[in-house]
Amino acid sequence: MWALFVLTVMGIRVASTFQIGASDNNYPTFNSSILETHKKFLGFSDKQILDYLLDKSRYDKRMRPVDYTVVNVTVLLLTLSSPDESSLKYEVEFLLHQKWYDPRLKFDDGGKHRYLNGLMHTDHIWLPDTYFIKHGEFKYPLIPIHIALRIYPNGSVIYSMRRAMVLNCQGNLHIFPFDNLKCPFALESVSHEETEVELKWSKTEQQINGATSLRQQNAYLVKNVTGECGKQHTWRGNYSCLRVLLVFTRDKSFYISTVFVPGVVLVTSSFISFWLDINAVPARVMIGVTTMLNFCTTTNGFRSTLPVVSNLTAMNLWDGVCMFFIYASMLEFIIVNYLYRRLPGASGNRPVSAPVPESLKNPSLAQTNSRRVFSDTNVQQPSQTTPATTPNAVPEPALNHRLQSDKARAAASVFAWLRRPQLFVTPDVRNRQRLAKQIDNVSKGVFPLLFGIFTIGFVLTFAIIKPSQQENFILL
Ligand SMILES: *[C@@H]1O[C@H](CO)[C@@H](O)[C@H](O)[C@H]1NC(C)=O
Ligand SMILES: *[C@@H]1O[C@H](CO)[C@@H](O)[C@H](O)[C@H]1NC(C)=O
Ligand SMILES: *[C@@H]1O[C@H](CO)[C@@H](O)[C@H](O)[C@H]1NC(C)=O
Ligand SMILES: *[C@@H]1O[C@H](CO)[C@@H](O)[C@H](O)[C@H]1NC(C)=O
Ligand SMILES: *[C@@H]1O[C@H](CO)[C@@H](O)[C@H](O)[C@H]1NC(C)=O
Repeated sequence: MWALFVLTVMGIRVASTFQIGASDNNYPTFNSSILETHKKFLGFSDKQILDYLLDKSRYDKRMRPVDYTVVNVTVLLLTLSSPDESSLKYEVEFLLHQKWYDPRLKFDDGGKHRYLNGLMHTDHIWLPDTYFIKHGEFKYPLIPIHIALRIYPNGSVIYSMRRAMVLNCQGNLHIFPFDNLKCPFALESVSHEETEVELKWSKTEQQINGATSLRQQNAYLVKNVTGECGKQHTWRGNYSCLRVLLVFTRDKSFYISTVFVPGVVLVTSSFISFWLDINAVPARVMIGVTTMLNFCTTTNGFRSTLPVVSNLTAMNLWDGVCMFFIYASMLEFIIVNYLYRRLPGASGNRPVSAPVPESLKNPSLAQTNSRRVFSDTNVQQPSQTTPATTPNAVPEPALNHRLQSDKARAAASVFAWLRRPQLFVTPDVRNRQRLAKQIDNVSKGVFPLLFGIFTIGFVLTFAIIKPSQQENFILL
């Protein structure tokens, strides 16, 4: 058993060395008369067949295979990626398969070779001069490792190129982030007119295929359209031209979780203020300011990743309206608090205002009192020394004291009135308090209602109606 195996291996090695030696000896003057008589490459190696087929005396690569050469094109997508969610650039890596029929390359070797690998002969074979127009840029130049060339016995040639392009895409930024990005590119023959070489989308195979291992990073291909360049694109003349449109969508859930949900949460948080007590000044101010700051931070953080363009209508509207609601709820508090503060004793923790002194209630009494105080100043000194004699009469010092405190209170109340006139304003205070509370109560309902209407309208307009109007997927 082992001996047999060793013998077989040796036999193979001997045979292969012999074959190599033989082909080296035969080349380039192998006996072609056998070929001429039988028209068959029986027993030839692929290298010999290629050398024979591509011999300069019989193959001129400057000539087209046939007068009117049809090149069938298919595209196999390998990788789709985008640097980030909001980018307008997509990187597409694909294989471009071009198939054509070259009768000069027909061979019959009795079925020994399924195809010939012409990778090393790309410089000696006629190739269609396809190039890419209206795309971004290539990520790397075309090097032989990205090329495959196969020649089939029936003369059909398959030429595959692996290319990676950075496509510049067009989105309708007015409805960002609900827009779909259209990334077009085109293939055209450089030097051959339509009547000489025609590029055609393969009719027998899928024109744009996704590889089974198609990788997608931040790129969500929703549609692919293939077609031919219309007459409006024939800026060079009658050259055969094919177009591809890849339509990508954005990851809506990303925007919902980073923009819209935080926006709704912050705006509704600012409405909490209406449910708090009017006098809870620190709490209500804090809610307003924090939600405002938070919203600014969120928006700025998100905007720094966006393309710098001015026409992000939907985003601007969303940010503006959210900001408006937060600001309005803060303003509402300022107004309500301002109205409410004019009420005396409105607050539980504020000291109750000083009772209005008699002297203010009865100006005449105050006048006489003060006059008496002034007339009594002379007798103040002796009266202090002599104790009170009559029990029913008011004692002099006590009277004096009362008069003095009356005077002080009167002055104090005047100053108090000067400082805080609101404590003494009476008639419409209750109305104002009622108004303040009414404003708060109305706000509780109106603000969330308006914001809800806005949100629903926003979603309907920008996420549903406008995208459906504008998704016509016409080749650009
Ligand atoms: C080629 O083969 C033919 C017949 O098969 C033979 O007559 C001829 O001598 C061969 N030529 C060479 C150069 O070996
Ligand atoms: C190209 O496609 C046409 C059909 O559209 C087909 O008849 C032809 O054989 C194809 N050519 C090659 C080389 O596959
Ligand atoms: C030539 O051969 C290839 C591979 O066997 C096949 O796919 C193709 O259809 C053939 N073309 C014609 C014109 O017979
Ligand atoms: C391209 O579109 C066709 C039909 O429109 C579809 O069958 C094919 O799967 C799409 N290709 C990719 C890579 O999505
Ligand atoms: C393109 O072809 C049309 C007819 O097929 C012809 O009338 C026109 O002159 C051609 N244009 C150029 C630039 O050759």
